[in-house]
Amino acid sequence: MEKENMIQEINALRKEKNAIILAHNYQLPEIQEIADLTGDSLELSMKAAQTDADMILFCGVSFMAETAKIVCPDKKVILPVPTAGCAMADMIDADELREEKAKYPGVPVVTYVNSTAAVKAESDICCTSANAVKVVESLDADTVLMTPDKNLAKWVERHVDKKIMFWPGYCPVHDKLTKQAVEEARAQHPNAILMAHPECPPEVIDMADVVRSTSGMLKYARESGHEEFIVATEVGLLYPLEKQNPGKRFYPASPEMVCEDMKKTHLEDVLRALREEGPLTTIPEDVRKRALKAVERMLAIPRD
Ligand code: 13P
Ligand code: SF4
Repeated sequence: MEKENMIQEINALRKEKNAIILAHNYQLPEIQEIADLTGDSLELSMKAAQTDADMILFCGVSFMAETAKIVCPDKKVILPVPTAGCAMADMIDADELREEKAKYPGVPVVTYVNSTAAVKAESDICCTSANAVKVVESLDADTVLMTPDKNLAKWVERHVDKKIMFWPGYCPVHDKLTKQAVEEARAQHPNAILMAHPECPPEVIDMADVVRSTSGMLKYARESGHEEFIVATEVGLLYPLEKQNPGKRFYPASPEMVCEDMKKTHLEDVLRALREEGPLTTIPEDVRKRALKAVERMLAIPRD
């Protein structure tokens, strides 16, 4: 089918079925172009919680669709490609978290949204890269356990007056970025600002001019007077950065920062998902209810 015909049918079906299409900032350009909203994990979960659509088509990875289902149990939540997962989310399961918690009674657990619903259900509060510092600051405790991302936890620790314990998970896409690769990018673009995602390792964070979520980087680039930026996150962010800033230049910190799961969804998948109204994301109700508490507690914290 021709691309234009696919887009026409997607538009007709989304109207007929009162569906909303949400897409993460790392999605392929063809998906970002047709989405009703693109954003970072926090913006997308806030939108999912507020929408009056009957159906949420989530172009992202499984934890994002699960988060939408957690806050919207009565809506159809669809992940067009059900194998689109997150390697970091798979680095801890509910049993492992229960065992870890048992070692530290009374210590609150802050879980990155990049986690399964079952892990969220074992947690006190969720966070995203956009609000992690605020979430940790909101807790009335001197010590906090953060899971699953060790790099996010180490970054938060720099900004709060609390002891941060962490689970040793990481995002393989961000964690593999080396100091040497960033130095090479800097040597090639000496006037560029280095923007890094908090999932990057500490030695990269040390070099960064700004550390932000994906949408935080978009905002920074739009508002900044600088013209060149090295972008230390998944390469999909280059598309909205360039689109929103025609006169500015953006360089990947490493062209190897590609999340294959974020690239699995194509127009064909969106069209099929709308036609078939599936595959649906489901969560056992007892797990969903417990996970909801952690997600709602996060959503109650105001965004900057
Ligand atoms: P944000 O878009 O929330 O910064 O998250 C990055 C990410 O890795 C999502 O998988
Ligand atoms: Fe997960 Fe990393 Fe891919 Fe984000 S970029 S979905 S954290 S593997």
